[in-house]
Amino acid sequence: MQIAPTLLDFRPLAPSFGAELSGMPVHGDVSDADLRAFVDALHRHRVLLLRNPGLDPGDLVAFSKRLGPLELHAAVEARHPAHPEIFCVGNVVRDGITANFARGVEQWHADSSYRVIASDASLFYGEEVPPEGGETMFADATGAWDALDPATRQRLEGLRAVHSLETLYDWNRRHTPNRAPLSAEKRALWPPVSHPLVRTHPVTGAKSLYLCPAVISHIEGMDAAEGAALIEELTAHATAPRFVYSHRWRHGDLVIWDNRAVLHTASLFDHTRYQRLMFRTTLAGGALAA
Ligand SMILES: [Fe+2]
Repeated sequence: MQIAPTLLDFRPLAPSFGAELSGMPVHGDVSDADLRAFVDALHRHRVLLLRNPGLDPGDLVAFSKRLGPLELHAAVEARHPAHPEIFCVGNVVRDGITANFARGVEQWHADSSYRVIASDASLFYGEEVPPEGGETMFADATGAWDALDPATRQRLEGLRAVHSLETLYDWNRRHTPNRAPLSAEKRALWPPVSHPLVRTHPVTGAKSLYLCPAVISHIEGMDAAEGAALIEELTAHATAPRFVYSHRWRHGDLVIWDNRAVLHTASLFDHTRYQRLMFRTTLAGGALAA
């Protein structure tokens, strides 16, 4: 019989969600019991922070793989040269790494919503973080749903939004004009997909708002302008300060979020003064369903 871990400790990050977790070993040999406790904590808190777990890229991939199969990011050029499961984010170009850099203010989203089965969770590691700016913000899309009045909930149930990689690329190119357009190959690999606007978490059963303003091309069966206005209105609601936790990065932080329950976005940093390099692994859809 396995002994339940006793070393895990939690400290809340925000009133309704998020927890700093200490006592959690992060490597490929983590025990089944610790891993189970970690996944349970992720489902309960939706965002987990581990301060300075002492990871190298190999550890991050090995730990992530213990959680389930990983996605390979659509931006092939930003994959880590030695660990293709790592998507490199930031403005660093060195050692074969070309991190994915965007000048535009990123929009709220959940990762890889352009896939038929979107990612369950993402792990984000601060390899090199600027002393100011570059925060990652999280919105409690579950709490935001819970806070809606019954009439609004009824109006939203059953609506479906189309998520499109092409819409996202077009948005990025408007803000970072030198970025390449979506290739025909990627368009064929990831055609637009339809997801419910109100999603139900497969483990907790909790409902949440699935809002990705820069990825959603339209709401099915709704006039384009009306659909865009609805997405904007709901995003403003879900990202009100009472639902948001903003993470100020320290070197060596690892943050894990449940893409099925929260939205996130990045904030800008002064890329002319500072270097930023983040490593992300992305758990494929269905990895944490059991
Ligand atoms: Fe993201």
